[in-house]
Amino acid sequence: MSTTTVLIRSEEIQSRIRALAGEIEADYPPNDEIHLVGVLKGGFMFMADLVRAMSSRVTLDFMAVSSYGKGTRSSGEVRVLKDLDSGLEGRNVIIVEDIVDTGLTLHYMQDILKARFPRSLRTACLLSKPSRRQVDVKVDYIGFTIEDRFVVGYGLDYGEKYRNLPDIAILNE
Ligand code: IMP
Repeated sequence: MSTTTVLIRSEEIQSRIRALAGEIEADYPPNDEIHLVGVLKGGFMFMADLVRAMSSRVTLDFMAVSSYGKGTRSSGEVRVLKDLDSGLEGRNVIIVEDIVDTGLTLHYMQDILKARFPRSLRTACLLSKPSRRQVDVKVDYIGFTIEDRFVVGYGLDYGEKYRNLPDIAILNE
């Protein structure tokens, strides 16, 4: 195992997520349901904390896609490994992603979910690395904007490790 250096502390993540949850709720009429679609596996922790900071009008579902292999570079290939359990027609849907890097994964997710006729479709990403973008993709809610560093922890992995770290950290060489 390599050593890691903390980039964003757990307390900072939690407080930013509470602010994001407030922002999201304020953007929808009070009686509207909000359906969150989490992208596995990286988005599981963000989803768990985000929904706990929101009111009971929230429902959720998960989708699993593969975009990266065991390394740190995007393969450009995105495959659906697990689809949603319920339909999206007429619902206010928010995609919940761990990180937007090249944007390829999100672009693909937005396309396939749009084709299911949600009433509205927005995206929330905990992290964004704008300098790496290859496709123009709209992200409505961003937790933190970071530089081009490979990060792990808080759901994010390197070769399936480090997902359980409570902080977001940089992997040392
Ligand atoms: P994109 O398609 O290049 O935007 O990549 C999105 C996916 O790549 C994310 O959902 C992550 O699973 C993974 N990814 C991108 N950057 C990182 C990183 O710094 N650490 C861990 N995983 C990453």
